[in-house]
Amino acid sequence: MSGYIIGKPEQVLGFYDKEFKGAAPQTNYDEAMAAFDQIGVPETSLRGKKVVDAGCGPGVYTLVMADAYGAKVTAVDIESDCVDLTREMCKKRSLAVETKIDDVRNLTLPSDAYDTVVCVGVVYHTGVPLDCLRSFYRVLKSGGECYVSLIRRSLLTDTQYVLFNIYHRLPSLVQKLSYNMILGLAKIAVACSRKGGSRFHDVSVGVHTAIYCPFQQVEADEGWCNRLKEVGFVDVRKVRSWNIGGHQGLYYGRKP
Ligand SMILES: C[S@@+](CC[C@H](N)C(=O)[O-])C[C@H]1O[C@@H](n2cnc3c(N)ncnc32)[C@H](O)[C@@H]1O
Repeated sequence: MSGYIIGKPEQVLGFYDKEFKGAAPQTNYDEAMAAFDQIGVPETSLRGKKVVDAGCGPGVYTLVMADAYGAKVTAVDIESDCVDLTREMCKKRSLAVETKIDDVRNLTLPSDAYDTVVCVGVVYHTGVPLDCLRSFYRVLKSGGECYVSLIRRSLLTDTQYVLFNIYHRLPSLVQKLSYNMILGLAKIAVACSRKGGSRFHDVSVGVHTAIYCPFQQVEADEGWCNRLKEVGFVDVRKVRSWNIGGHQGLYYGRKP
């Protein structure tokens, strides 16, 4: 078994608009830069380029790409709240960013029009990675570059897979109690280790995604690279992995 699925497809819909709406938009510039830098998209693929931020969420990376790297960003997300947050944040900073409600599974953006697609934390939620990759391929110009993050097989995701399957076999009352207990313990641990409230939100998202997670498709590096090749990308490689145990990977492909 090289890959597997955690969760159910319907769990992702409506998940992120609630999560991001409840949180203060993450506009601390240094934090945004640091978060973007660890992903590993090089400046040469951004500066002055037409870039799609596919599944922009609250627009943290849109902000960095447009402001710090001077990219001409089109930010899209399936959730209107995410698109609104991104538009408002960019407006406050007078950044000329195009925003649009759109679906990465079948983007409505024009074909052969963009230099770079950056898609972080989205494709593995859709259950149809090939559709998403084909959609990115279509909107890219010849020579255009795709940077897509995907969930890698790791000790963390293998454990999560087992936990998820145990959790969803428990009676619903036990599920509720155990979920709240784990969340409570995690919050206490964070409160002891760091002052301030912002981490509480991260913890609740973390616990939520680990146990009652939105649908996640997990593959080994080779599996994801093969998916990119399958849709026609060349020079395919894994750029970097990050997050706990390197469970998120950034993969690269170029449209010939
Ligand atoms: C984990 S967040 C990532 C947000 C942002 N890229 C980041 O890394 O900060 C996942 C985002 O994907 C969006 N999303 C999920 N399915 C989508 C789809 N089919 N089309 C577009 N966006 C989608 C969600 O609404 C959410 O904003």
